[in-house]
Amino acid sequence: MEKSSNTTGAMTPELESLFELLRFPSISTDSRHRGDVRACAEWLAGNLAAMGLESRVDDTPGHPVVLAKSEAKPDRPTVLIYGHYDVQPVDPLELWDTPPFEPVLREGRILARGATDNKGQLWAHALGVGAVLREEGDLPVNVILLFEGEEEVGSPNLGAYLEAHKDELGCDVIAVSDTGMVAPGVPTLGYGLRGIACCEVKVSAAKSDLHSGVYGGAVANPATALARLLATLHDANGRVAVAGFYDGVGLPEEWEREAWSALPIDESSILKETGAPALSGEEGFSSWERLWARPTAEINGMASGYQGEGSKTVLPSEAMAKLSFRLVPGQDPGDILAGVRRHFEERAAPGIRLQFVEGHSGEPYFCDPRSRHGQAACEALREAFGREPVMIREGGSIPIINTFRRVLGVDTLLLGLALPDCRIHAPNENFTVENFEGGIRMNRALLRALAKA
Ligand code: BES
Ligand code: ZN
Repeated sequence: MEKSSNTTGAMTPELESLFELLRFPSISTDSRHRGDVRACAEWLAGNLAAMGLESRVDDTPGHPVVLAKSEAKPDRPTVLIYGHYDVQPVDPLELWDTPPFEPVLREGRILARGATDNKGQLWAHALGVGAVLREEGDLPVNVILLFEGEEEVGSPNLGAYLEAHKDELGCDVIAVSDTGMVAPGVPTLGYGLRGIACCEVKVSAAKSDLHSGVYGGAVANPATALARLLATLHDANGRVAVAGFYDGVGLPEEWEREAWSALPIDESSILKETGAPALSGEEGFSSWERLWARPTAEINGMASGYQGEGSKTVLPSEAMAKLSFRLVPGQDPGDILAGVRRHFEERAAPGIRLQFVEGHSGEPYFCDPRSRHGQAACEALREAFGREPVMIREGGSIPIINTFRRVLGVDTLLLGLALPDCRIHAPNENFTVENFEGGIRMNRALLRALAKA
């Protein structure tokens, strides 16, 4: 194992246990890893039990849920800590510097798939709880840990699980570390998440590929037809051109705009982080507004025709694209997908067949961070990172968060530890030891602060 300079200079028992967790290839979308996902759940339940929590693995129609609870005392508030132990696929594997499921320490960073998203962050919470139990034999609040194995595939079974275990999961507030920290050392409280609606569009024409000289010009080309359709998704100002798309969408509040313009980071950091030559997006909005308060339409994948070396004169028989729409409060994923379907159907060229397949979706989330729980979260962040926290919304999605609000009736505090260069979902995902250790401190401070709130 590579053990070069981390911030503490050595492996700690906390890091050792995180490394064990990171070695499970718990890729939820890939059925070949079903057993690995379960093994990861069993490892979590076993280690949480060893901390003195009552823990178990609950089956669902998909991947299991890990549930652990401290002894419930009626005179205390209850905090539910949510996280996900499933991870994204690792491809393209050849772009990783080290094997994704063989964690290493390099220059103060833990390198592995899931290091930040979300094993490192969830394990920091668990270790914080474990440390307080070990040192004090008790916790200042009741704690429920709920770790799911299907977040990266849209949490298809967790909503029903929440309904079925509603009483047992009753709590005063939810804490989640699965979001961003705007810069190293800048504690960040998230109070919003974009929602998401996914779909696939397929265009076909001839029953097989055709010679593009023999038939091209007389039979529709699905790749061209799809490209034309996709090009109608945005207008020239970068606005989404689907009818009704912005119905119900409000502008960020004044205090939010002020808070965001005072952030200790500026938009050029996006260029530095991504390598893009210029910023781009909906006209009339700052990048923070574009990312956190505006809905978008994205093409996530496209496929059609010949992809090999040289040229091949073919009229492909089909073309497909995978799309997702990021949503903000006021938008409903079902309505959005219905509007997108209509948009394409109305514009489909004669001579093609159009197939529209709805994918998973999740609602947007927003809460007021100036609540007493929000203040407790700020206190914990301040204590753990030694600086006044900033407040942001998030561009990413965690579909279950709004379901928590609907089913359990409580707010979620988003205590993000993911740094801009942590490369979640990409090769060389990493988590700084600093944030891992800061996360453990933050959890301990949070339990205390929530006990007072
Ligand atoms: N942890 C992310 C979400 C996230 C990342 C929020 C950074 C804010 C900042 C989560 O694991 C994730 O990737 N969610 C998916 C949801 C989808 C698969 C339903 C997303 O946002 O694409
Ligand atoms: Zn993720």
